[in-house]
Amino acid sequence: MSKVNFEHLFSPLQVGPMRVPNRICETTNTINSSMTPGRLDEHFIAHHVAKAKGGTGWIGSETWLLNLPFPPETPDEVGLSMGFSSHQAAYQDPAFGEDMAKFVRAVHANDAVAVVQLTHLNAVWAPSAVPVVGAQDYTPHVLGEEEIEFCLQTYAAAARVAKASGADGIEIHCAHETLGYSFLSPVTNRRTDRWGGGPQERVRFVIEALERIRAEVGDSMALGIRVGGKEFRQGGYDNMEFREMLYCIAEEGLLDFVDIDAGHCWGAPSYVPSSYYSHAEFREFGKAAMADLAEMDPRPAVLFTGRINDPVLAEEILRDGFCDLVGMVRAGIADPEFANKAREGRLNEIRRCISCTRCIDEASEPATFPYTPMCSINPVIGSELRWQETYKPAGTPRNVVVVGGGLAGAEAARIAAMRGHKVTLFEREKRLGGQVLLASKSPGRDDFEDQVYFEENEMERVGVDVRLQTNANLDTIKSLSPDAVVIATGSTPRVPNDIPGIDLPHVVQGWDILRGRAQTGERVAIISQEDYYETPTIAEFLAERGKQVEVFHKSVHLGTEIARYSIGMVLKRMEQCGVKIHPSVVLNAVREDGFELLSSWGDMTYQQEGFDTLVLVYGSVPQADLHAQLKADGSIEQLYLAGSAWTPRHMAEATRHGANIGLVI
Ligand SMILES: Cc1cc2nc3c(=O)[nH]c(=O)nc-3n(C[C@H](O)[C@H](O)[C@H](O)COP(=O)(O)O)c2cc1C
Repeated sequence: MSKVNFEHLFSPLQVGPMRVPNRICETTNTINSSMTPGRLDEHFIAHHVAKAKGGTGWIGSETWLLNLPFPPETPDEVGLSMGFSSHQAAYQDPAFGEDMAKFVRAVHANDAVAVVQLTHLNAVWAPSAVPVVGAQDYTPHVLGEEEIEFCLQTYAAAARVAKASGADGIEIHCAHETLGYSFLSPVTNRRTDRWGGGPQERVRFVIEALERIRAEVGDSMALGIRVGGKEFRQGGYDNMEFREMLYCIAEEGLLDFVDIDAGHCWGAPSYVPSSYYSHAEFREFGKAAMADLAEMDPRPAVLFTGRINDPVLAEEILRDGFCDLVGMVRAGIADPEFANKAREGRLNEIRRCISCTRCIDEASEPATFPYTPMCSINPVIGSELRWQETYKPAGTPRNVVVVGGGLAGAEAARIAAMRGHKVTLFEREKRLGGQVLLASKSPGRDDFEDQVYFEENEMERVGVDVRLQTNANLDTIKSLSPDAVVIATGSTPRVPNDIPGIDLPHVVQGWDILRGRAQTGERVAIISQEDYYETPTIAEFLAERGKQVEVFHKSVHLGTEIARYSIGMVLKRMEQCGVKIHPSVVLNAVREDGFELLSSWGDMTYQQEGFDTLVLVYGSVPQADLHAQLKADGSIEQLYLAGSAWTPRHMAEATRHGANIGLVI
């Protein structure tokens, strides 16, 4: 294929004393890759160094949570990530500093730079008695002078450790509801002393923190701040006020770079924007900062981050002067090698992030212990070391048949073929993708199709014999005399057969709506027993087609399995397209002219009428008949059941399951 000219993306940049080898930055992402609390272990190194090896020039790794002046008599509070505890921060342990030095050496060995982010978490402490994090109602303890001084000193103390480790840069976290942010925001900083007031006064804390760090590291390290280009909350600073604050900070001559993003920990957008937001939607924040700081000499470099998942887009943004450096975090989670692939003209081989936000959801509300990073489409994330140890070319190439080309089947086929097996994949539909393809049909989720393109390209590249529109059965499979068979035939929608009237003609399945196999009338009731994205996705699909949609949902709110960082973005969409949600009810009976609901908590029943169509979204049940038949037949040496056909969960689980099978065949 023809090579794109990445003239800007791969040119180096001097940022203060730090020479960044190219413009691609892994801004800080606390994905919990270390499995040893309070330490930066070999999993951490494997995870972040994979990105440096893959060509990312700036490695921000995971944040350093700083200690706060908790009164000594308060019980210690231990945080999820990085071994944070309220009385002792991880960086204060000399072993942590040694880990960091080892990590920095590994980053440097791959020609990248290491930047440390210093963060004071915020909820318990703030400049004023105003809740800082939207999702919490803590009225924080108001910082007194001595406590402010304590916080400022922690920046200096942590900077000393960062410098000793050999890291190249330091960034103070002043975005996302951190302490730095809460001083900048007019919502959370209502002080009337020298720390509060207008934009020029509210920046004082950040400037003093920068001064403390500078005093510690001198000109040996690049120094910057991470800050949101606008607040998306009532009364918050807008972009004009942000620009004024940034100018005031930069005027002090302490800044080598500013790292601009947008969004909050909770709300819409979150700072890890989902596919509902456009690529680099808030890029103008970068351009404005470039213009405002243009006259300064030296001018601080401008880094902009936010849903840049593609090197071609990154190049355009740089070329068009929106920023000097691009943040590409999830791009590197989905594919740590994307930068090298781009430079080598292998664009077709890049697995692009689909912005499903599973990574941040897992990091903020982990479902596993020890916490491991998760990605819906990259099976290696979170188990880099295991993959390094176990991924080997197949000793004896085997004849492998995979049935089903959804995530699990495609990954099983891809990995098995990469290892040297001869693989045939049967898919019933016209394209690979399974449920991912279905999900991509709904508004704001078209990026999901990128994963289907990736699998299609990969099948060709690794030489899988893909047979589309083919319903494989026992005979088809056996005719190929396979040594190993993977059944990844997915799942089918669950039908609550015990409900009277469920087979009336105006009751249809949600999946059939997305597939275009079922139509609805004007007034639609969605009956939902599904707590992830299926229900909101189908509701929006119908609302976009002008239907009046009401959701009757079993749980306390829609999407209870969607974590705090992402749920706001989903519920905002529901609000915008006028979908009404009725929580805590289940379907009891359907009649021609209406239906009966039962409270999820008791015996109360409610009658509804006036709806033309009932759409059921009840999750799905495994479709594993073929597996049962092959098992009974007993002629296949290695037989596997993968993904939703084993049990329907989310994308990441299917991807990992399939890939792991590909690894062991
Ligand atoms: C799992 C995860 C953890 C994150 N943790 C942090 C963090 O500790 N500090 C921070 O400033 N940003 C954090 N971020 C935000 C990223 O730096 C980045 O701004 C965001 O992912 C949007 O960029 P992207 O679209 O390139 O992924 C995190 C993002 C992810 C995905």
